[in-house]
Amino acid sequence: MTRLPIAILGSGKGSNCRAILERIRSGDLAAEARLVVSDVLDAPILDIAREFGVANAYLPPGRFRTRLEPAIEEQLVQMLRNANIELVVLAGFMRVLHEPMLKAFPRRIINIHPSLLPKFPGLEAWKQALVSGETVTGCTAHYVDERIDHGQILAKREVRILPNDTAESLHARIQVVEHELYPAVIAEFCERYGDATEQVEGWPDR
Ligand code: GAR
Repeated sequence: MTRLPIAILGSGKGSNCRAILERIRSGDLAAEARLVVSDVLDAPILDIAREFGVANAYLPPGRFRTRLEPAIEEQLVQMLRNANIELVVLAGFMRVLHEPMLKAFPRRIINIHPSLLPKFPGLEAWKQALVSGETVTGCTAHYVDERIDHGQILAKREVRILPNDTAESLHARIQVVEHELYPAVIAEFCERYGDATEQVEGWPDR
């Protein structure tokens, strides 16, 4: 079986990365994690990569707060190309990607977001849902485009908001669901494109 070469990009604690790497290790997910990249030097996601023996890199993001400097985004493209990455998996990567990445990996970059998009894009989406008085929120996996937490939706899962939920308890329950949903979405890519694929609809040539 051919394994789909993936890279995981994240800025924080890396629990989704861990869930994905565990599924790969247990044989449930036909992907090969070739690279983990973070824009935060001491992000736990890099420690998780080391724990699982996956190549990892810190990418100094440059002088902007919410995006990579264009030359650095080009560097990222090069790193991913050198590793022959087929699918780029954003897992808590807190920078908006722009043309270099979007052009190099059309419909090959996916993200997980802790709300039922299009509701509550942006930071701390679970808090946004809580203060808005919603009774249901959840998480969404989607293709990445040039807008924040926007792009064609691949899958969503609902999570009920309980009367005594705090921001922390709600985010924790959403994360449990993310850890199921995201590997399942990646598994679908692997099934469809793992042996792949020259020309598949929705999976354009580079
Ligand atoms: C996850 O809840 C993910 O949905 C969210 O960041 C968290 C990262 O957690 N992403 C976004 O808010 C994207 N806009 P993790 O580092 O433990 O995987």
